[in-house]
Amino acid sequence: MTKPFIVVSDGMDKSIFEELKSNADLEVHGPKISQDELKTLLPKIDGLIIRSATKPNKEFLDQAKNLKYIIRAGEGTDNIDKAYCQEKGIKVSNTPGANNNSAAEHALALMMTVLRKTAWANTSMQAGKWDKAAFTGNELWNKTVGIMGFGRIGQLLCKRLQGFEPNVLFFDPFVEKTEFDYAKKVDSLEELFSKADIVSIHTPLMDATRGVVNKDLLSKMKANSILVNCARGNIVNEDDLFETLKEGKIKGAGFDVFASEPLENSKLTELNNIVLTPHLGGSTDEAQFRVGEMAAHQIKEFFLNQNLLNEVKA
Ligand code: MLT
Repeated sequence: MTKPFIVVSDGMDKSIFEELKSNADLEVHGPKISQDELKTLLPKIDGLIIRSATKPNKEFLDQAKNLKYIIRAGEGTDNIDKAYCQEKGIKVSNTPGANNNSAAEHALALMMTVLRKTAWANTSMQAGKWDKAAFTGNELWNKTVGIMGFGRIGQLLCKRLQGFEPNVLFFDPFVEKTEFDYAKKVDSLEELFSKADIVSIHTPLMDATRGVVNKDLLSKMKANSILVNCARGNIVNEDDLFETLKEGKIKGAGFDVFASEPLENSKLTELNNIVLTPHLGGSTDEAQFRVGEMAAHQIKEFFLNQNLLNEVKA
Protein backbone atom coordinates (compact mmCIF):
# COMPACT_ATOMS: atom_id res chain seq x y z
CA MET A 1 0.00 0.00 0.00
CA THR A 2 1.37 3.45 -0.88
CA LYS A 3 1.96 5.70 2.07
CA PRO A 4 -0.17 8.87 2.34
CA PHE A 5 1.66 12.13 1.72
CA ILE A 6 1.18 14.30 4.80
CA VAL A 7 2.21 17.96 4.96
CA VAL A 8 2.39 19.98 8.16
CA SER A 9 2.48 23.71 7.43
CA ASP A 10 2.48 26.88 9.55
CA GLY A 11 5.41 25.89 11.75
CA MET A 12 4.95 23.16 14.32
CA ASP A 13 7.44 21.18 16.35
CA LYS A 14 8.91 18.57 13.92
CA SER A 15 9.68 16.03 16.64
CA ILE A 16 6.00 15.52 17.45
CA PHE A 17 5.35 14.19 13.95
CA GLU A 18 8.45 11.93 13.68
CA GLU A 19 6.53 8.77 14.58
CA LEU A 20 4.29 9.26 11.53
CA LYS A 21 7.24 8.61 9.25
CA SER A 22 6.85 4.83 9.47
CA ASN A 23 3.34 5.09 8.04
CA ALA A 24 3.44 8.21 5.89
CA ASP A 25 5.60 10.34 3.63
CA LEU A 26 5.91 13.40 5.77
CA GLU A 27 7.00 17.00 5.23
CA VAL A 28 6.95 19.38 8.18
CA HIS A 29 7.39 22.99 7.11
CA GLY A 30 8.32 25.99 9.21
CA PRO A 31 6.08 29.02 9.67
CA LYS A 32 7.70 30.69 6.72
CA ILE A 33 6.58 28.29 4.00
CA SER A 34 5.04 30.60 1.44
CA GLN A 35 1.57 29.84 0.21
CA ASP A 36 3.11 29.62 -3.31
CA GLU A 37 5.58 27.00 -2.16
CA LEU A 38 2.76 25.11 -0.50
CA LYS A 39 0.75 25.27 -3.71
CA THR A 40 3.47 23.39 -5.60
CA LEU A 41 3.00 20.49 -3.18
CA LEU A 42 -0.80 20.62 -3.25
CA PRO A 43 -1.58 18.14 -6.06
CA LYS A 44 0.29 15.40 -4.16
CA ILE A 45 -1.01 15.98 -0.63
CA ASP A 46 -3.32 13.40 0.99
CA GLY A 47 -3.42 14.90 4.47
CA LEU A 48 -2.74 18.44 5.62
CA ILE A 49 -2.13 19.77 9.14
CA ILE A 50 -2.40 23.57 9.43
CA ARG A 51 -2.70 26.41 11.91
CA SER A 52 -4.25 29.76 11.00
CA ALA A 53 -1.83 30.98 8.30
CA THR A 54 -2.79 28.46 5.63
CA LYS A 55 -6.19 29.24 4.15
CA PRO A 56 -7.71 26.37 2.21
CA ASN A 57 -10.18 28.28 0.04
CA LYS A 58 -11.79 27.15 -3.24
CA GLU A 59 -8.76 27.91 -5.40
CA PHE A 60 -6.46 26.12 -2.96
CA LEU A 61 -8.75 23.10 -2.66
CA ASP A 62 -9.21 22.79 -6.43
CA GLN A 63 -5.48 22.28 -6.76
CA ALA A 64 -5.39 19.67 -4.03
CA LYS A 65 -6.64 16.82 -6.17
CA ASN A 66 -5.63 14.07 -3.73
CA LEU A 67 -6.51 15.82 -0.50
CA LYS A 68 -8.70 13.74 1.78
CA TYR A 69 -8.26 15.26 5.19
CA ILE A 70 -7.38 18.61 6.76
CA ILE A 71 -6.62 18.98 10.44
CA ARG A 72 -6.71 22.44 11.96
CA ALA A 73 -4.17 22.14 14.76
CA GLY A 74 -6.10 24.48 17.01
CA GLU A 75 -9.68 25.47 17.65
CA GLY A 76 -11.10 27.84 15.02
CA THR A 77 -11.70 26.43 11.54
CA ASP A 78 -12.88 29.69 9.98
CA ASN A 79 -9.75 29.78 7.75
CA ILE A 80 -11.02 26.67 5.94
CA ASP A 81 -13.81 26.70 3.34
CA LYS A 82 -15.62 23.84 5.04
CA ALA A 83 -18.65 23.92 2.75
CA TYR A 84 -16.42 23.41 -0.28
CA CYS A 85 -14.47 20.69 1.54
CA GLN A 86 -17.75 18.93 2.20
CA GLU A 87 -18.71 19.22 -1.47
CA LYS A 88 -15.38 17.69 -2.47
CA GLY A 89 -15.52 14.94 0.17
CA ILE A 90 -12.55 16.34 2.09
CA LYS A 91 -12.90 15.78 5.82
CA VAL A 92 -12.03 18.49 8.34
CA SER A 93 -11.14 18.17 12.03
CA ASN A 94 -9.77 20.42 14.71
CA THR A 95 -8.03 19.62 18.00
CA PRO A 96 -10.66 20.78 20.48
CA GLY A 97 -9.45 21.92 23.85
CA ALA A 98 -5.75 21.38 23.19
CA ASN A 99 -4.72 25.04 23.19
CA ASN A 100 -7.61 26.52 25.19
CA ASN A 101 -5.65 27.14 28.38
CA SER A 102 -3.07 29.16 26.46
CA ALA A 103 -5.78 31.24 24.79
CA ALA A 104 -7.45 31.94 28.14
CA GLU A 105 -4.11 32.86 29.72
CA HIS A 106 -3.31 35.17 26.82
CA ALA A 107 -6.57 37.04 27.36
CA LEU A 108 -5.61 37.42 31.01
CA ALA A 109 -2.13 38.60 30.01
CA LEU A 110 -3.62 41.26 27.69
CA MET A 111 -5.98 42.45 30.42
CA MET A 112 -3.10 42.83 32.85
CA THR A 113 -0.89 44.49 30.23
CA VAL A 114 -3.50 47.13 29.47
CA LEU A 115 -4.48 47.61 33.11
CA ARG A 116 -0.89 48.01 34.32
CA LYS A 117 0.46 49.62 31.12
CA THR A 118 3.47 47.31 31.13
CA ALA A 119 3.92 47.25 27.35
CA TRP A 120 4.09 51.05 27.15
CA ALA A 121 6.30 51.27 30.24
CA ASN A 122 8.71 48.81 28.64
CA THR A 123 8.89 50.84 25.42
CA SER A 124 9.57 53.95 27.47
CA MET A 125 12.30 52.23 29.53
CA GLN A 126 13.95 50.93 26.37
CA ALA A 127 14.05 54.53 25.17
CA GLY A 128 16.09 55.31 28.29
CA LYS A 129 13.31 56.98 30.30
CA TRP A 130 12.11 56.53 33.89
CA ASP A 131 8.59 57.92 33.56
CA LYS A 132 6.90 56.51 36.64
CA ALA A 133 4.10 59.09 36.70
CA ALA A 134 2.95 58.25 33.19
CA PHE A 135 2.19 54.62 33.95
CA THR A 136 -0.15 54.55 36.91
CA GLY A 137 -2.48 51.67 36.20
CA ASN A 138 -5.54 49.92 37.56
CA GLU A 139 -6.12 46.69 39.47
CA LEU A 140 -7.94 43.65 38.17
CA TRP A 141 -9.03 42.63 41.67
CA ASN A 142 -12.76 42.97 42.27
CA LYS A 143 -13.51 44.23 38.77
CA THR A 144 -16.48 43.13 36.67
CA VAL A 145 -15.29 41.02 33.77
CA GLY A 146 -17.75 40.42 30.93
CA ILE A 147 -17.11 37.27 28.93
CA MET A 148 -18.68 37.19 25.48
CA GLY A 149 -19.00 33.51 24.58
CA PHE A 150 -18.97 31.06 27.47
CA GLY A 151 -17.65 27.96 25.74
CA ARG A 152 -14.47 26.09 26.63
CA ILE A 153 -12.14 29.11 26.49
CA GLY A 154 -14.57 31.56 28.08
CA GLN A 155 -15.12 29.17 30.97
CA LEU A 156 -11.41 28.52 31.40
CA LEU A 157 -10.85 32.26 31.57
CA CYS A 158 -13.54 32.47 34.23
CA LYS A 159 -11.72 29.77 36.22
CA ARG A 160 -8.28 31.34 35.83
CA LEU A 161 -9.70 34.71 36.94
CA GLN A 162 -10.90 33.27 40.23
CA GLY A 163 -7.94 34.50 42.29
CA PHE A 164 -8.75 38.07 41.32
CA GLU A 165 -12.15 37.72 43.02
CA PRO A 166 -13.97 39.25 40.08
CA ASN A 167 -17.65 39.58 39.35
CA VAL A 168 -18.01 37.67 36.12
CA LEU A 169 -20.87 38.31 33.72
CA PHE A 170 -21.23 36.25 30.59
CA PHE A 171 -23.35 36.28 27.49
CA ASP A 172 -23.85 33.07 25.55
CA PRO A 173 -27.15 32.04 23.99
CA PHE A 174 -26.08 28.37 24.14
CA VAL A 175 -25.10 28.20 27.83
CA GLU A 176 -27.67 28.34 30.59
CA LYS A 177 -25.91 27.22 33.74
CA THR A 178 -22.46 27.76 35.13
CA GLU A 179 -20.48 25.88 37.74
CA PHE A 180 -18.95 29.17 38.92
CA ASP A 181 -20.91 30.92 41.65
CA TYR A 182 -19.23 34.22 40.81
CA ALA A 183 -20.41 34.12 37.16
CA LYS A 184 -23.83 35.37 36.16
CA LYS A 185 -25.50 35.14 32.76
CA VAL A 186 -26.82 38.37 31.27
CA ASP A 187 -29.60 38.62 28.72
CA SER A 188 -27.94 40.62 25.98
CA LEU A 189 -24.62 41.80 24.63
CA GLU A 190 -25.73 45.36 25.36
CA GLU A 191 -26.07 44.46 29.04
CA LEU A 192 -22.68 42.73 29.05
CA PHE A 193 -20.90 45.63 27.38
CA SER A 194 -22.55 48.28 29.54
CA LYS A 195 -21.92 46.57 32.90
CA ALA A 196 -18.39 45.20 32.52
CA ASP A 197 -15.13 46.95 33.39
CA ILE A 198 -13.34 44.54 31.08
CA VAL A 199 -14.99 42.74 28.16
CA SER A 200 -13.20 39.68 26.80
CA ILE A 201 -14.36 38.07 23.54
CA HIS A 202 -14.36 34.26 23.28
CA THR A 203 -16.94 33.37 20.68
CA PRO A 204 -16.20 31.65 17.36
CA LEU A 205 -16.52 33.60 14.14
CA MET A 206 -19.84 32.74 12.47
CA ASP A 207 -22.61 34.63 10.71
CA ALA A 208 -24.21 35.58 14.02
CA THR A 209 -20.98 37.05 15.44
CA ARG A 210 -19.39 38.66 12.37
CA GLY A 211 -19.05 42.42 12.96
CA VAL A 212 -21.33 42.27 15.98
CA VAL A 213 -18.99 44.39 18.11
CA ASN A 214 -19.65 47.64 16.30
CA LYS A 215 -20.03 51.33 17.06
CA ASP A 216 -23.39 50.80 18.79
CA LEU A 217 -22.13 48.12 21.13
CA LEU A 218 -18.83 49.89 21.80
CA SER A 219 -20.75 53.03 22.71
CA LYS A 220 -22.39 51.11 25.57
CA MET A 221 -19.03 50.46 27.26
CA LYS A 222 -18.02 52.35 30.41
CA ALA A 223 -15.57 55.22 29.99
CA ASN A 224 -12.86 53.42 31.95
CA SER A 225 -13.38 50.02 30.43
CA ILE A 226 -11.12 47.71 28.42
CA LEU A 227 -11.86 45.44 25.47
CA VAL A 228 -9.85 42.26 24.89
CA ASN A 229 -10.10 40.08 21.81
CA CYS A 230 -8.33 36.72 21.60
CA ALA A 231 -11.07 35.10 19.52
CA ARG A 232 -11.39 36.26 15.90
CA GLY A 233 -10.75 39.66 14.35
CA ASN A 234 -13.88 39.84 12.23
CA ILE A 235 -16.11 39.79 15.29
CA VAL A 236 -15.11 43.42 15.88
CA ASN A 237 -15.57 46.22 13.36
CA GLU A 238 -12.02 47.58 13.32
CA ASP A 239 -12.99 51.02 11.98
CA ASP A 240 -15.46 51.43 14.83
CA LEU A 241 -12.87 50.20 17.32
CA PHE A 242 -10.34 52.68 15.96
CA GLU A 243 -12.76 55.62 16.35
CA THR A 244 -13.77 54.52 19.85
CA LEU A 245 -10.15 54.29 21.00
CA LYS A 246 -9.03 57.42 19.17
CA GLU A 247 -11.74 59.46 20.81
CA GLY A 248 -10.81 57.92 24.17
CA LYS A 249 -14.35 56.64 24.72
CA ILE A 250 -12.96 53.57 26.49
CA LYS A 251 -9.70 53.23 28.38
CA GLY A 252 -7.95 50.78 26.16
CA ALA A 253 -7.86 47.47 24.34
CA GLY A 254 -5.76 44.35 23.98
CA PHE A 255 -6.06 42.61 20.61
CA ASP A 256 -4.50 39.35 19.44
CA VAL A 257 -6.64 38.78 16.34
CA PHE A 258 -7.50 40.90 13.33
CA ALA A 259 -9.89 40.99 10.38
CA SER A 260 -6.97 40.36 8.06
CA GLU A 261 -3.85 38.53 9.24
CA PRO A 262 -0.98 39.27 9.17
CA LEU A 263 -2.01 42.78 10.19
CA GLU A 264 -0.70 45.22 7.59
CA ASN A 265 -1.18 48.97 7.18
CA SER A 266 -3.66 49.12 10.01
CA LYS A 267 -4.69 52.36 11.68
CA LEU A 268 -4.79 50.44 14.95
CA THR A 269 -0.99 50.56 15.13
CA GLU A 270 -1.17 54.39 15.33
CA LEU A 271 -3.04 54.32 18.62
CA ASN A 272 -1.39 54.52 22.02
CA ASN A 273 -4.20 52.87 23.98
CA ILE A 274 -4.21 49.44 22.36
CA VAL A 275 -1.76 46.57 22.86
CA LEU A 276 -1.39 44.33 19.82
CA THR A 277 -0.04 40.80 19.61
CA PRO A 278 0.28 38.72 16.41
CA HIS A 279 -2.31 35.97 17.05
CA LEU A 280 -0.35 34.43 19.91
CA GLY A 281 -3.31 32.94 21.80
CA GLY A 282 -2.31 29.35 21.07
CA SER A 283 1.39 30.04 20.77
CA THR A 284 2.97 28.44 23.79
CA ASP A 285 5.28 25.44 23.83
CA GLU A 286 2.74 23.58 25.93
CA ALA A 287 -0.23 24.27 23.65
CA GLN A 288 1.74 23.54 20.51
CA PHE A 289 2.85 20.24 21.94
CA ARG A 290 -0.72 19.29 22.84
CA VAL A 291 -2.26 20.32 19.50
CA GLY A 292 0.60 18.61 17.61
CA GLU A 293 0.20 15.35 19.54
CA MET A 294 -3.54 15.40 19.00
CA ALA A 295 -3.21 16.20 15.29
CA ALA A 296 -0.60 13.44 14.82
CA HIS A 297 -2.87 10.94 16.55
CA GLN A 298 -5.89 11.99 14.50
CA ILE A 299 -4.09 11.80 11.16
CA LYS A 300 -2.79 8.34 12.00
CA GLU A 301 -6.26 7.17 13.01
CA PHE A 302 -7.71 8.53 9.78
CA PHE A 303 -5.24 7.00 7.35
CA LEU A 304 -4.43 3.77 9.20
CA ASN A 305 -7.74 2.91 10.87
CA GLN A 306 -10.28 4.89 8.82
CA ASN A 307 -11.32 6.53 12.07
CA LEU A 308 -12.36 10.18 11.78
CA LEU A 309 -11.94 12.02 15.09
CA ASN A 310 -13.23 15.47 16.02
CA GLU A 311 -14.85 16.17 12.66
CA VAL A 312 -15.98 19.74 12.06
CA LYS A 313 -18.77 20.08 9.54
CA ALA A 314 -19.67 23.12 7.46
C1 MLT B 1 -7.14 28.70 17.53
O1 MLT B 1 -8.12 28.85 16.80
O2 MLT B 1 -6.77 27.59 17.89
C2 MLT B 1 -6.40 29.89 18.03
O3 MLT B 1 -6.73 31.01 17.32
C3 MLT B 1 -4.94 29.73 18.19
C4 MLT B 1 -4.12 29.48 16.98
O4 MLT B 1 -4.59 29.14 15.94
O5 MLT B 1 -2.91 29.66 17.05
